[in-house]
Amino acid sequence: MTRVLSGIQPSGSLHLGNYFGMMKKMIEYQENAELFCFIANYHAMTSLQDGKALARGTLEAAANFLALGLDPEKSIFWVQSDVIEVQELTWVLSNFTPMGLLERCHSYKDKVAKGIAANHGLFAYPVLMSADILMFHSEVVPVGKDQKQHVEVTRDIAIKFNNEYGEVFTLPAPQIDDDVATVPGLDGQKMSKSYGNTIDLFLEEKALRKQIMRIVTDSTPVEAPKDPDKCNVFNIYRLFLDKEQVEELRKRYLAGGTGYGEVKQELFETVRDFFAPFTERRKELLADTDGLKKTLAMGAEKARYLANKTMRKVRKKVGIAY
Ligand code: ADP
Ligand code: TRP
Repeated sequence: MTRVLSGIQPSGSLHLGNYFGMMKKMIEYQENAELFCFIANYHAMTSLQDGKALARGTLEAAANFLALGLDPEKSIFWVQSDVIEVQELTWVLSNFTPMGLLERCHSYKDKVAKGIAANHGLFAYPVLMSADILMFHSEVVPVGKDQKQHVEVTRDIAIKFNNEYGEVFTLPAPQIDDDVATVPGLDGQKMSKSYGNTIDLFLEEKALRKQIMRIVTDSTPVEAPKDPDKCNVFNIYRLFLDKEQVEELRKRYLAGGTGYGEVKQELFETVRDFFAPFTERRKELLADTDGLKKTLAMGAEKARYLANKTMRKVRKKVGIAY
């Protein structure tokens, strides 16, 4: 089975773009791949310097994934910092990382341009990510476009190390899904926290309805035929429908007589009902933090066992085991 690994930073609330663009796909991997999934809380430190918020966010991120269907029995699911060996490997790999490789990273340059402090953590971020990936001999790393370069950096570092010490690390390949079109936001642009155009997961009914009613539509009157493909409501609604249902909705648009308000109300009910069981489950998970921590500890134990195996080999190769 292919070994798939990805990490998610605990960065606050989730929206439909995160769910359909990333989380749903990761959860599907547990059925037909060896899935490694973790909460990248060390990485989050580069943008979040509020200890309480990070600790809370880490538990919430874990609860989100579990509530949406990640099965800790079918995957290895843990919090990055519970496998401390990853820091040791980061240091080892740092010695195989040319400065130029990091200096070329777009993500670092973009973040600095946005005003984030250019400290060593932010600069070394891709080395830590390489350690995450190489530690577990990951073959496939599903990521968004912005993270592709980091997986390429990981390959370069692994090649350098392997050239010196033999085939210790597996070379990973980034996997970027082009088939799932970008989930559009309320205004038709890519749904993103930074654009303020999201429909969020786990909202109370009232707040959810409010967001959906804010979807931008044109002023075609109720009776007139409408172009479904140009409609933001349609393009979001279709994520929840099967082929036949999409065709049916398309026909209603083309026939006229269906107002945007009516479709928004239907979309609201659909989103609400779709996520209701997940929202309930999430509440239960967060109400029992001891249980949640136990689940994470179980995942950490499995991950640590494998990390130790890798590190014993690495320490021997580099001469740290003397
Ligand atoms: P945001 O843009 O809201 O800050 P993030 O960058 O935190 O979202 O995204 C986390 C993950 O969710 C990424 O891996 C990305 O692939 C996915 N994602 C985010 N927004 C979308 C979207 N509109 N369509 C598809 N996938 C998305
Ligand atoms: N940097 C990734 C992001 O911001 C998260 C991440 C950390 C990651 N370590 C990883 C993703 C290893 C894939 C593999 O989205």
